Amino acid sequence: MIRLMSFRRVLMAASLFVVVDYATAHAQEQRSIYTPAPASNARAAAAKHGMVVAQEKIAAKVGADVMARGGNAVDAAVATGFAMAVTYPRAGNIGGGGFMVIHSADRQEDIAIDYRETAPAATTRDMFLGTDGQPDIAKSRDSALGIGVPGTVAGLALALEKYGSGKFTLSDMLQPAIALARDGFVLADDLADTLPDWRRRLSRWPKSLRMITRADGTALRPGDTLVQGDLATTLSAIAAQGPRGFYQGPVAEKLVDGIKAAGGIFTIDDLKNYQPVIRPPVRGHYRGYDIVSMPLPSSGGTVLVETLNILEGFPMGEMTQGAAPSLHLLIEAMKRAYADRARYLGDPAFVNAPIITLLSKDYAAKQRASIDLAHATPWTDALSAVPPREGSNTTHYSVVDAAGNAVSNTYTLNFPYGVGLVAEGTGVLLNNELDDFTAAPGASNAFGLVGFEANLPGPGKRPLSSMSPTIVLKDGNPVLVTGSPGGSRIISTVLQVIVNVLDYRLDVTSAVAAPRLHHQWLPDEVRIERGFSEETLTALKVMGHRVIEPMGQTSANSIAVIPDGLLGAPDPRTRGAEASGY
Ligand code: DON
Repeated sequence: MIRLMSFRRVLMAASLFVVVDYATAHAQEQRSIYTPAPASNARAAAAKHGMVVAQEKIAAKVGADVMARGGNAVDAAVATGFAMAVTYPRAGNIGGGGFMVIHSADRQEDIAIDYRETAPAATTRDMFLGTDGQPDIAKSRDSALGIGVPGTVAGLALALEKYGSGKFTLSDMLQPAIALARDGFVLADDLADTLPDWRRRLSRWPKSLRMITRADGTALRPGDTLVQGDLATTLSAIAAQGPRGFYQGPVAEKLVDGIKAAGGIFTIDDLKNYQPVIRPPVRGHYRGYDIVSMPLPSSGGTVLVETLNILEGFPMGEMTQGAAPSLHLLIEAMKRAYADRARYLGDPAFVNAPIITLLSKDYAAKQRASIDLAHATPWTDALSAVPPREGSNTTHYSVVDAAGNAVSNTYTLNFPYGVGLVAEGTGVLLNNELDDFTAAPGASNAFGLVGFEANLPGPGKRPLSSMSPTIVLKDGNPVLVTGSPGGSRIISTVLQVIVNVLDYRLDVTSAVAAPRLHHQWLPDEVRIERGFSEETLTALKVMGHRVIEPMGQTSANSIAVIPDGLLGAPDPRTRGAEASGY
């Protein structure tokens, strides 16, 4: 049995270490891509056979074309993943990591591929502390110490090998990405808008700036063609040799040299030893539907299912969507599940988390019993924080094919353009994922997520994630594929899309477009998007909720399977998102 009260005492003792500093440096990046959208901006796209909904249209089309040529959803997801490493460099990547949840209709199997970055072998528990023993956020966010061993190449290759249609080789799936890197593509407006931030992020390692510099030495401008010759060479090495072309040999040596020169602690062995993991997904049941989502080292699936279990005991469908009584329940459920995240969750190779309890209906019933229908539960008022204001640093895409295979993939560099280091000669932008570790018990990461022992840094360890690629099934068949970027807000976003579809029967486009809110236990505040009525907000405040704008960027690119085909919902909050189908 989980004793939350004793945890409260631990928390109070640890509060001295709590860091409440957020990535304010990214405020501008957020402004440049985040346009809050009222529900009327909902965008829908229909397709008969196969569809990819992704944050960037060239890469979405690459995946849809693969399916039109006879590939399955996994083939398409792999091709889109590599293409986005070229066309969406602020989050698409081969220098970061992520998670893929697959429903394989062919094998009647649901699986999760964990290609999260790992900490190098030389990682120490206190690596992200300053000489004063306090967390030093510059070390994990802005220095090469924050770079985790990238997992994307190994993860996508594994997905293709085990769950692809078998009709295409890894090299086939890399060709569109190679061509896009080698021949270039025109910088579209949303990507071009991030150029100033991109420059700032890369300028700490001036050689990295070559990536966005014209042949004449001047800065790349909107409308220019972005050619990434080094990246094309790296992708070609992977096409020729498989993952060995990245994790061993000349590319690996260049990655290690570049990271070492920047002050990192990465070795050739760290790269050589990287292994993606096939895991059984987290499974939940909600009002007759199966929820299939990401297990540890993501907290996403566990927190999502715990929250849904709490909500299942309330008649959500009889309440009004977006009105205070139902929002209150969402907030209270989130608050409790995120508290468990902070206390218990971490890399399962290192931490024995009470997952069975956290996912059980009995535990949810106990949590539910503590919810007061008229008042906010004051979880703790000892801690408060400034809003998270990071930009779009992660990206989610959903894929469904004609045979009913579905892929939900979220991958990331953590911050936009990662740590901002391109290892010389590789074209590979590297992540700063190790900021997702907890630097000291009670410290928070860039998303304000507090953690404790379970998520301290350690050699070979995977930092706890919130990424929640999710597939909802009815009678064994996918009905909804969803996920999002947004750090801590990922889980609450996925939750609200699911509740909007299953409880409120909104079509997927309205479900994605509806205004969202977020509570992550600490800080004890409700972050809201624009779009809720004044009356609703007043009612929430009267119940005792601290309501604060803005919520920060999320983008739930989703697909619903409907009776006569597929309905795609590129999230209208973000420019660039696109559905591509046939
Ligand atoms: O794994 C995680 O939870 C974070 N590194 C994800 C970062 C993210 O979503 C930022 N996007 N806006």
